[in-house]
Amino acid sequence: MNLTVENILLALKAAGEETRIRILALFRSGELTVTELVTVLRQSQPRISRHLRLLCEAGLLERHREGTWIFYRLNESGEKAKLVKSLMEYIPYSDQMLQHDQERLLEVKKEREKKAAQYFQENAANWDKIRSLYVPEQQVEAYLLDVTRDLEVNDLLDVGTGTGRMLELFKNRAKHGVGIDLSREMLAIARSHLEKQDIAHMQVRQGDMYDLALKDECMDLVIFHQVLHFADDALAAIKETARILRKGGRVLIVDFMPHDMEKLREDYAHRRLGFSIDEVNDWCMVSGLSILSNEIMRGSELDIAIWTASKE
Ligand SMILES: C[S@@+](CC[C@H](N)C(=O)[O-])C[C@H]1O[C@@H](n2cnc3c(N)ncnc32)[C@H](O)[C@@H]1O
Repeated sequence: MNLTVENILLALKAAGEETRIRILALFRSGELTVTELVTVLRQSQPRISRHLRLLCEAGLLERHREGTWIFYRLNESGEKAKLVKSLMEYIPYSDQMLQHDQERLLEVKKEREKKAAQYFQENAANWDKIRSLYVPEQQVEAYLLDVTRDLEVNDLLDVGTGTGRMLELFKNRAKHGVGIDLSREMLAIARSHLEKQDIAHMQVRQGDMYDLALKDECMDLVIFHQVLHFADDALAAIKETARILRKGGRVLIVDFMPHDMEKLREDYAHRRLGFSIDEVNDWCMVSGLSILSNEIMRGSELDIAIWTASKE
């Protein structure tokens, strides 16, 4: 669909207000909830919700509900996406007020990360029991080995390795492997698992999925096993992965299908309640990866999806 004069006027009117420009500027780095925006901008929830509604109606933002949370993000589909992209380029991010907002947003994100990190710190020792809750684990693992059987894996990266289970699983398939994780407690357990089993060609180290500190095109296989539902900005993590993948390399993403088990937010520090097949497919495609397959596995309470993508 082409843009009409009416579309453009609506979008410019929506963007032409101070708080709404501040809101748009904050969406530069991923999706946000109303509560997060209220905390950053220190305005009442009804006011922020009204601004968000106008930005959505004008096609600048998209919203999606998950349980009791509503996420907003920049519109990334269709003709309006081009308009959003151009508008975002004109925002003066070095402006003092916008910089201040960005700093407050970083504080909010840090606070949330602290909560998740605390959860993993407290649960590191029990993780091997927790990780298999609700999930057809053996079936998933057999599939991961099978879907990569034709791939020569010199270098493997396991993102958010936790206790290192994916490194163990691929020990006979990869010549070298690295697992990165933010949590030192999880890494300590992963190290001891690898040592006990004499797996010397796999290592773990502290690292962040948004900034892998690896050179371009150095990995053949990257795995995200039950990690993306913690991410603020899954797209940024997938883009960073695409950067470090060799041509012909593959990404495996294992995560929940959309669900409504809100308690996973409180009890397990999840941010997202699963992902639709299309959502992750779109992120891969935007990052320059081609989807090879989508596999769905039904669990007792939660369903799992496995996305396999490759870099052409
Ligand atoms: C649910 S656990 C999954 C661990 C492992 N992949 C498995 O399946 O057993 C998620 C892991 O992601 C890690 N994590 C969360 N955010 C991260 C980030 N930004 N960078 C790297 N690791 C992260 C957590 O510390 C945690 O160990």
